[in-house]
Amino acid sequence: MKILITGARGGIAFLTGITLASRGHFVYMTTHTSEEAIRLKEITDALNLKVIVFKLDVTLEEDRKQVDNLDIDVLINHAGIGVGGSVLDVPIDKIKENFDVNYFSSYDIVKRVGNRMIKNNKNGKIIIMSSTAGIIPIPFLGSYCSSKSAISTMATSLRREIKMLKSKVKVILIEPGAYKTGFNQIMISDIDTNIDKESVFFHNKEKIYATLTKLFNVIEKRKLDSIVVKIIEAVESDKPKSKYRAPLLQRIFTKIYLIFVK
Ligand SMILES: NC(=O)c1ccc[n+]([C@@H]2O[C@H](COP(=O)([O-])OP(=O)(O)OC[C@H]3O[C@@H](n4cnc5c(N)ncnc54)[C@H](OP(=O)(O)O)[C@@H]3O)[C@@H](O)[C@H]2O)c1
Repeated sequence: MKILITGARGGIAFLTGITLASRGHFVYMTTHTSEEAIRLKEITDALNLKVIVFKLDVTLEEDRKQVDNLDIDVLINHAGIGVGGSVLDVPIDKIKENFDVNYFSSYDIVKRVGNRMIKNNKNGKIIIMSSTAGIIPIPFLGSYCSSKSAISTMATSLRREIKMLKSKVKVILIEPGAYKTGFNQIMISDIDTNIDKESVFFHNKEKIYATLTKLFNVIEKRKLDSIVVKIIEAVESDKPKSKYRAPLLQRIFTKIYLIFVK
């Protein structure tokens, strides 16, 4: 299969990309910057993998247009950023930036790829990286959590729309719990920049930072294989589920939350 992954510099997308390539798929691994593309290409060349690496800053239309020329069976929309801070504090520009990467850009790439897949009657898959944070809102991560709720809702709407066309294209959500990739630490450290002296939370700043750091230290899964296995299953299965969640304990917790709290 021909697969395109965004935001594949490191972490979950990197491991997913090289695993898929080593299983015989042809993978386009894309990165935020040209420098990261050069570095990633050196790695995939050294591993002798069937991978094409290029820069795709998802926020730039001219970069997104590159997908129009590719024949893709599977899109994995993975690129994302996290913004930390209270709903009462985070500047609107940062919320827009968060939604630009996590929502609007993904939406546009899905439109570009999805229309072509359907018109060409492809047995294609659109895989969207969401998060359990889009289901269970975390205090002081409101911008990030709402961007993930939004992308999940968009994906579910699209999945239901496509049913009407009897198209073979499938829309699949990946909802990981917390994994140690450095992503969450960058998001938490952002709280510092977004709580200034004017903030009603100014005197709670240390406590908020310490609590979230502790929470992620406890829940973050060090090994990424449990989520990568789910993404591989979503890519390769003839009858993929509409949603995949991992790791196991956080999956169970999410289920309980949905039954008793939501
Ligand atoms: N780790 C977790 O606990 C967790 C849990 C649930 C969901 N997720 C989701 O998984 C993704 C993060 O994966 P990860 O944890 O493996 O961390 P990661 O490696 O930091 O992944 C984020 C990727 O997105 C890229 N990116 C950021 N802005 C971009 C842009 N404008 N254009 C293209 N790429 C851009 C980053 O590149 P640069 O670093 O070069 O900017 C990076 O490669 C996000 O969608 C996140 O919501 C993660």
